[in-house]
Amino acid sequence: MKTPKIGLFGLGCVGQGFYDLSQLQTPSAVPGKIVVKDPIKKRNADVSLLSFDKDEVLADEDTNLIVEVIDNSADAYSIVKTALSAGKNVVTANKKMIVENLPELMALQEKTGAALLYEAGVCASIPILRTIDSYFSQEPISTIRGLCNGTSNYILSAIYNRGWDYAVALAEAQRLGFAESDPTLDVESYDALYKLIILTLHGFGVLLKPDDVFNYGISNIQAPDIKFAKASDYKIRQVAQAYKTAAGKISLWVTPQFVSPSDPLYHVENEFNGITIDAEHSGTQFFSGRGAGSYPTGAAVLSDVHASLAGFKYRYEKYKSNNGLIPTDTTEIEVYLRTPNEKIFEQISLRNAESHGRNFVTGSIRLAELKRLKPLLEKEKVFLASLPFRQEHSGTAMAGKEELKKVSV
Ligand SMILES: NC(=O)c1ccc[n+]([C@@H]2O[C@H](COP(=O)([O-])OP(=O)(O)OC[C@H]3O[C@@H](n4cnc5c(N)ncnc54)[C@H](OP(=O)(O)O)[C@@H]3O)[C@@H](O)[C@H]2O)c1
Repeated sequence: MKTPKIGLFGLGCVGQGFYDLSQLQTPSAVPGKIVVKDPIKKRNADVSLLSFDKDEVLADEDTNLIVEVIDNSADAYSIVKTALSAGKNVVTANKKMIVENLPELMALQEKTGAALLYEAGVCASIPILRTIDSYFSQEPISTIRGLCNGTSNYILSAIYNRGWDYAVALAEAQRLGFAESDPTLDVESYDALYKLIILTLHGFGVLLKPDDVFNYGISNIQAPDIKFAKASDYKIRQVAQAYKTAAGKISLWVTPQFVSPSDPLYHVENEFNGITIDAEHSGTQFFSGRGAGSYPTGAAVLSDVHASLAGFKYRYEKYKSNNGLIPTDTTEIEVYLRTPNEKIFEQISLRNAESHGRNFVTGSIRLAELKRLKPLLEKEKVFLASLPFRQEHSGTAMAGKEELKKVSV
């Protein structure tokens, strides 16, 4: 093995966490250079390591591993592409950049033999990608469900447990550093969607684009929704899920979801993340851990750095096997809709619709129809949640409302 020489891009939340942990624990992972942007900023790092010129590191032939943890996905793609093209291995935490460029990034790895690892980009400290890619490389998975966004989970936990309004819970998440000043990607569920797309690639071998998948955020949640959940002993969580239908297709969606106490995700609170995997022989596995933060994410980056130094690469086995799984959005799910303007129910056709009062209704609807209705639902500030998930083998409805208590709000 060549002597490791690591170039680190970014010394923010994740970069600093990785840098501190590499110094504390593993001299072989200490970066030889750190590229940042702002020349004025004070840093908790040896100043002789700092550089403001990306080419100083990318063009250095001895640098054989790039750790990319910057906050700009276009710049990140340029750095990662240049590094992989030069045969350098790369570790990144940037799920948005990965999802936007997956076909190119996989082709580059294939062409140059360099490896790209991104464990930290999916649920930070939870070792889920290497587990799915390696341990489950041969075993069919039927379902992956995850609470993949710590900000949303913190907000939903605070609303449910402390009785706060959405705006108060969001402000507290921002004060604690869990949420960005612009929280759109988190609360509108795009961050969870990116992670689900990566999980689906490794777990099912199916490569999708964000636009292919119905996702809906948590920002319209209000007290009546919590009242509805509590009446049936449910909690509300932002769940990203992918499952294999009986017809051999793959169905994905990300929405708020009512979860019951028998669901492991019910017990994942605050900024924590959780994932369940159902596999053919192993049964149900549940993983939980910190989904964000300097040291939890830095630890995942450090782990990837060591895996990379030891020669680890993702196998993309299920993707390469052409297993015939194709996505479908004809799946029907059971949903709860609450709107401030009940007139819009005239434009939404639900099967088995059941009214629970003037402003809210439950019933079944296809994912394709939800995608079509999304602009209307968002414009009218509708709160939408799917009903509790049930693993069925009919390949159609995947949520159940048999436990719903009658409640009017
Ligand atoms: N924060 C988390 O808990 C977490 C968890 C999982 C994944 N991630 C992902 O990790 C990545 C980094 O997030 P973060 O929270 O650490 O961001 P951050 O705190 O905002 O830090 C970003 C760093 O990137 C540097 N930077 C930005 N553009 C650059 C460029 N073109 N060249 C060199 N350096 C550049 C900044 O430089 P200056 O210091 O000079 O401004 C800063 O040091 C993101 O992709 C994020 O999605 C974050």
